[in-house]
Amino acid sequence: MHVLIIGSGGREHALAWKIRQSPLVTKLSCAPGNAGIGEIAELVPIPATDLDALQRFAVAQKVDLTVVGPEQPLTQGIVDRFEARGLKIFGPGRKAAQLEGSKAFAKQFMQKHGIPTAEFRSFELSQRYDAERYINEIPVPIVIKADGLAAGKGVSVCESKEDALDVLDLMMGRKAFGEAGLKVVIEEFLDGEEASVFAITDGTGFVTLSSAQDHKRIFDNDLGKNTGGMGAYAPAPVMTPELLDIVNRTIIRPTIDGLRKDGYPYRGCLYVGLMITETGPKVIEYNCRFGDPETEVILPLLKTDLVELLLASVEGGIGSLKADLHPLSAVCVVIASGGYPDTYETGKQIVGLDAVKLADEQVMVFHAGTTREKNAVVSSGGRVLGVTAIGPETDLEATIDRAYRAVEKITFDGAYYRSDIGKKGVERLRQLRKEEQP
Ligand code: AMP
Ligand code: GLY
Repeated sequence: MHVLIIGSGGREHALAWKIRQSPLVTKLSCAPGNAGIGEIAELVPIPATDLDALQRFAVAQKVDLTVVGPEQPLTQGIVDRFEARGLKIFGPGRKAAQLEGSKAFAKQFMQKHGIPTAEFRSFELSQRYDAERYINEIPVPIVIKADGLAAGKGVSVCESKEDALDVLDLMMGRKAFGEAGLKVVIEEFLDGEEASVFAITDGTGFVTLSSAQDHKRIFDNDLGKNTGGMGAYAPAPVMTPELLDIVNRTIIRPTIDGLRKDGYPYRGCLYVGLMITETGPKVIEYNCRFGDPETEVILPLLKTDLVELLLASVEGGIGSLKADLHPLSAVCVVIASGGYPDTYETGKQIVGLDAVKLADEQVMVFHAGTTREKNAVVSSGGRVLGVTAIGPETDLEATIDRAYRAVEKITFDGAYYRSDIGKKGVERLRQLRKEEQP
């Protein structure tokens, strides 16, 4: 098969790394890709949002399966277009992708189907006055979300009513998120630990991959601004087998069935972001694709051929498959450009990549924002690399150490990373062990 991956981040590098291992694959292309992906796939210089050019490429090059990484092409309807031309493509159609593309849609969907989530109300621009009144009525903290896509930056947790009113003004008055913020969701604050679960579905059946935990804030101890994700580990010990069973029954199953009944059968990867509250798991958000950097820890734990699962999602029949997981843990530390998520410089030469490759077979360096300039690899984005280590499932600390030993070998001007990736998992494991003791 000729497989085409769309996207250019660490997620797409991890997808390429795993897809390359499939005996079903004879040719791998990636549009537009990055320097790391270029080592294992043919790079095609087409942006992920240029649907016309992507479709022309898929037809001309006889692509057998297209795998979409990022959300934008999905919400733009790339799947509907490819399918109309008889091309096989992994991901949900435009309507089902609204689960991520519109927070108001997702909340209304959950309400309709009785899926546990935070209490909320949504407001259009014309209802700004009602939104202000609602803020004054509900207790703090108050969570305000831009309805549309905002690269993970459209959510504010406000500790005071003044802050909440400011955020509302930022979105609806000053239009800081453009169109995306002209409609908002205001919701109840949920307390607990976060975890994500990933399901691959054909619209009826599904398999779950490992759970994972992301680190969204820029600084240690979850301080500072939200980013696309500064690191991840898997599995998340907070997601015990009992809890995962509850998530499957009360969240994933009704989500897939609800979408099908509503007329938008969901095929692809369903990413469920959860808060584990005292009253059980509740949905914080849905994403209509694999997570980044979660994919960089989830795929190294997957034993099953990913291409078989992707094909079963597209063609149907995933209900009869299983996703076998290695009994290991994985930790990914993201190395970012100094200044990210605000302004940062690019074009910095990265050194140490070969040293890491030689030093440890249990470490993979997934490229996110990199490009090749002559014989050098240079930074080209905010998140530059995702360094993933694997190790024993029962010794997350050892896996974390292994990841950081590799991270320390890599340098570029202004490189920044968090030093506490996985710490919450270690604490949770300790607590679970204490509870198990008689
Ligand atoms: P989202 O983009 O919806 O995942 O939100 C980004 C982050 O904001 C989440 O990962 C949470 O840390 C936080 N968040 C979102 N919604 C809530 C909520 N209702 N209660 C508490 N924290 C939230
Ligand atoms: N890591 C968060 C996301 O992929 O949306």
